[in-house]
Amino acid sequence: MERETERMTDAAAAGTTEQAAKGTTERPDGLVNVAIIGVGNIGSAHARATGSGRIAGMRLGALCDIDPRKRETLSGLYPGVPVFASAEELFAAVNAGKLSVDAVIIATPHRFHAAIGMQAVEAGLHVLSEKPADVELKKAVELARTASASGKLYGIMFNQRTDPVYARAREIIKSGELGAFKRSSWVITNWYRTQAYYDSGDWRATWNGEGGGVLLNQAPHNIDLWLWMLGMPESVLAFCHEGKYHRIDVEDEATIYAEFPGGGTGVFVTSTGEAPGLNRLEMAFENGRLIIENGVLSVLRLGVPERRFCFECQDCYALPPLSEERFSARETRDGHELILEDFASAVTNGTELLSPGSAGVNELAFSNACYLSSWTGERVILPLSDNDCRRFSSILEEKRNSEAKRNCPGKDPKDPANAAYSERWKTRW
Ligand SMILES: NC(=O)c1ccc[n+]([C@@H]2O[C@H](COP(=O)([O-])OP(=O)(O)OC[C@H]3O[C@@H](n4cnc5c(N)ncnc54)[C@H](O)[C@@H]3O)[C@@H](O)[C@H]2O)c1
Repeated sequence: MERETERMTDAAAAGTTEQAAKGTTERPDGLVNVAIIGVGNIGSAHARATGSGRIAGMRLGALCDIDPRKRETLSGLYPGVPVFASAEELFAAVNAGKLSVDAVIIATPHRFHAAIGMQAVEAGLHVLSEKPADVELKKAVELARTASASGKLYGIMFNQRTDPVYARAREIIKSGELGAFKRSSWVITNWYRTQAYYDSGDWRATWNGEGGGVLLNQAPHNIDLWLWMLGMPESVLAFCHEGKYHRIDVEDEATIYAEFPGGGTGVFVTSTGEAPGLNRLEMAFENGRLIIENGVLSVLRLGVPERRFCFECQDCYALPPLSEERFSARETRDGHELILEDFASAVTNGTELLSPGSAGVNELAFSNACYLSSWTGERVILPLSDNDCRRFSSILEEKRNSEAKRNCPGKDPKDPANAAYSERWKTRW
């Protein structure tokens, strides 16, 4: 049975190509011209950021949304910027030489991310996709492979990667000074959402429209950070509770037990139904512990490695000597804007992407494995096998087919005129 290893390796390789790909921009102003596809809550904030000229190295070149009212508002807000009614129409204009853009930012509902990304790469464009990479791993893997083979950049909007606290924790772990990883627990339950949120769009919180709940929409940021710091586990056992706190079909609470190569273990708990929620990450290593809570990273370093102390110390109740350092720093810019600038720099100067598409692929591999585990009651091995990818898709299809139509008021997405990055999309302590 062909295992996902090859594909994941491809995705990791995509990261390398992503970094190697040099800019295609030969514009006099040197700016990366982007088309934004899907101009709802987050897409309209990206439009305002790029359209206002505050994103270094990037400018707004086109907009696209399937909602006619949205297009009308956008035409008024961004005169001179062409507005398209579908991704197909936009790519047809690119292919016909009628529209000149370098990259797309995809901010539609998740299930279109990889398919639109594929069309973009085929039209010779770089891709920056909103998270998650897609609903189904196989589609995201295909995009990563195609982008890599075409020498096009594929980035993902994991904007919390720019948070200095997580970046510092990762730096310490990667330096090796804390030794082997033992155990981690991340309780990230402050993704609180009201019923009004779930009712704000008819694609939300349905198997057909969204394809998942808190694991697919809110927690991908934290899952990505967890994997970025600790690497990919080799198995997961997950418990997802569907519609526990809201009138929704998908899960609003998940508890995951993960086993990492080398014997480390982890528990990841997330919810949109707890108030007040919590954001507490602990990571224990042979030579100490990292704790991140309330925006502060505590670095607890042991004077003697615990494994040595355990077998050399003759005092039954002694503890190894300990020192503590605290680190905190607030982001000076919005993380979304930093990822946009990072992407522009990668396109123009060939710099390394902070958040490459391969991170989106890995994050989705983890969440697909968790869904499969919860749906079947089985411990699921990573990398996901082709057979497990098929089982995931087939159970998802069953859920889609048996889902009753949701009676959803379907409020309009955010008015593009009032677009700003919401505090709710940033790291919350
Ligand atoms: N990185 C972040 O902090 C962050 C924050 C919010 C949302 N997101 C992600 O962004 C995506 C969009 O979320 P949202 O809250 O903005 O949703 P939304 O419903 O507010 O906006 C989606 C927009 O896409 C349009 N659309 C739908 N299908 C389309 C298609 N096929 N082609 C073109 N346009 C299409 C809709 O008309 C709508 O305007 C989701 O994947 C979500 O996970 C990321």
